Amino acid sequence: MKNLKAAILAAIIFYCACPRAAAQAPLYKDPKASPAERAADLLGRMTAEEKFGQLQQLDGLWEGDYRKEHLELAREGRLGSTLNVRFAANVNILQKEAVEHSRLGIPLLFAFDVIHGYRTIFPVPLGESAQWDPELAGKAASAAAEEAYSVGLKWTFAPMVDIARDPRWGRIVEGSGEDPYLGSRLAAARVRGFQGADFSAPGKLLACAKHWVGYGAAEAGRDYNSTNISRSALRNVYFPPFKAALDAGAATFMSAFNDLNGVPSTANKAAIAGTLRGDWGFKGFVVSDYTSVKELIAHGLAADEEDAAVKALSAGVDMEMVSTLYRDKGPAALSAGRLSLPVLDASVLRVLEMKFRAGIFEKPYIDPALETKKLLTPKTRKLALEAALKSLVLLRNTGGLLPLGPGLKKIAVVGALADSKTDMLGSWSADGKPADAVTLLEGVRETVSPGTEVVYSSGCSPSAGTDEELAKAVAAASEADVIIAAVGEEASMSGEASSRAFLSLPGRQLELLERLKKTGRPVVAVLFNGRPLELSWLDANIPAILEAWYPGTEGGRAVAQTLFGRSNPGGKLPVTFPLTLGQVPIYYAHRSTGRPPSAAEKYSSKYTDSPVEPLYPFGYGLSYSSFTYSGLSVTPAKIKADGKAIVKVAVTNSSSRSGDEIAQLYIRDAAGSETRPVRELKGFKRVTLSPGETKTLEFELGPAELGYYYEDGFAVEPGLFGVYASGSSEGGLEARLEVMP
Ligand code: NOJ
Repeated sequence: MKNLKAAILAAIIFYCACPRAAAQAPLYKDPKASPAERAADLLGRMTAEEKFGQLQQLDGLWEGDYRKEHLELAREGRLGSTLNVRFAANVNILQKEAVEHSRLGIPLLFAFDVIHGYRTIFPVPLGESAQWDPELAGKAASAAAEEAYSVGLKWTFAPMVDIARDPRWGRIVEGSGEDPYLGSRLAAARVRGFQGADFSAPGKLLACAKHWVGYGAAEAGRDYNSTNISRSALRNVYFPPFKAALDAGAATFMSAFNDLNGVPSTANKAAIAGTLRGDWGFKGFVVSDYTSVKELIAHGLAADEEDAAVKALSAGVDMEMVSTLYRDKGPAALSAGRLSLPVLDASVLRVLEMKFRAGIFEKPYIDPALETKKLLTPKTRKLALEAALKSLVLLRNTGGLLPLGPGLKKIAVVGALADSKTDMLGSWSADGKPADAVTLLEGVRETVSPGTEVVYSSGCSPSAGTDEELAKAVAAASEADVIIAAVGEEASMSGEASSRAFLSLPGRQLELLERLKKTGRPVVAVLFNGRPLELSWLDANIPAILEAWYPGTEGGRAVAQTLFGRSNPGGKLPVTFPLTLGQVPIYYAHRSTGRPPSAAEKYSSKYTDSPVEPLYPFGYGLSYSSFTYSGLSVTPAKIKADGKAIVKVAVTNSSSRSGDEIAQLYIRDAAGSETRPVRELKGFKRVTLSPGETKTLEFELGPAELGYYYEDGFAVEPGLFGVYASGSSEGGLEARLEVMP
């Protein structure tokens, strides 16, 4: 009887299930099923080789082509993603192998470093950070995503959210500077810009918060160097922008090159499995940096290639960029039990689930017609101009030399950087074309009044300049009413693998400036550079200095419009400019010491041969307008640890010119379980004020702003807090807030 029942049941199941199973597409192909269900179903159908294949990312050619072997790998289901492959002609061919000719038809994810624009290039991230305008940074990221998507990309390795406090490190140009609060606001804005509300939508990209973690603290500023970061600094300084990126929905993270406190980031279980996935609940996937899995051997963490693969994968690095150890050594490690199947499956699931969420199973191809419609449109150029204008920081303007008046007869533009299209774009300029860029010289020529003669002489570049070239430039300049000297660094002097041991102006540029000064003509220095430089001679000798960073496609136009007063500079420094190299690392949010610097006290924390103060502090920047702060209030002045206070301050444009001010709010936690920085940024607002106009700005100070990580968690400690409102990290108005026990 029992057997009969079982047989009937089996027959019913067979009758119901079999014909359907034969006719129905597998669950993973059903767009109505959830990404998690689809990923689980797909995983169940995969061989070990296909699983490792999904974890492999390979590099195409810099020009955008795939490599021949990619076709075969895609067909065999042994490739998950590529970087640098782009343009419909390449992407669609390679994708077709994966989608239509591989056993399971899993699409590839096409990635690229879209860092500050794709074809329309916006200011380098450090320059963009000088805008202090997260909304604008988000718009630039969104425009970059739309362009990049149009050439078949679906994933950008951005934003780079590493805090950097050492200008010798070349990659300081790629981030938001030294401050975790500013960095967090920008990280979130950029992630939202790239991804939008739904990253599966056309025109959106998956973002990648990088480099997890601590990469910016490279010892001695040397790229790829080891880092030693205290637990407190990690949690209060280096982690926050990553957490902000995650909270904004960042789909992926990239593990960093650096050794972090003795465990390379690419095998750092505590950071990846512990903090990122465990404590923060990150659900996306982690990609290694370029060959960083293999580099575990050079680090001295892994004994051999298999050991490196096992350690990286077991730490939670899901996808391997460029090196091929997962693919080559993973299967043997799996069979021998040195790599666990659940570890492998978890990584594959994370990658697959993200591919489902990205919508590429449904939309694997790109319409070739899109490219021509989306790239470098009048709209993106306009946005690039706005972005460049807002990123400029006026460092000095003695005697109101700027803005330049309309009545000038002759202007000399000097310095090879003034006429270099490549150097307008900066490092990581994706598919930006130098030919699209407006140079400073072009900008000046189109901006001056018809009666003004513009002469140009290169003098020298950051890396070359002969005696004759210098002499020629000085001769040309000595006849001019005003000299505009473009100095700084070539774009390639900052960025990856471009650390410097000196922060001086490279080459003969200082000599050029000295000789220009001797002409007696007023000199305006325009700086193109990707890091804080040592500018003390300029500050003492050149009346007007404008920091232009690498301002992007519309850069030269933006600088010229600013020099001639069509636009009023309002950017502020996102990073401290030291007085001298010996002060490095120098940042505003340092802790006090038991012996703070004091001129009167020898045994205090200072130098015998240099001031301790920087040349230009974090948050500093001038304007053609002037602003005054008044009426700082904190209400209530006493709160509980879970309470909130409202800070109000009035900012007045006390000049006759409309302009932007970036009002900044800082706190100091006076005493607690751990010592806290002398100041910490906790709010800012960029506002435009007409002549004489006053705006009262409001900020909130609550647990998120007043708390910090100590011992085991994040908390607000009772006690006194200083509250400061100012136009830079120094000076300003001061009030107090008490947190009661
Ligand atoms: C190495 C860099 O560190 C990383 O930022 C970049 O995204 C990858 N190369 C890919 O180009």
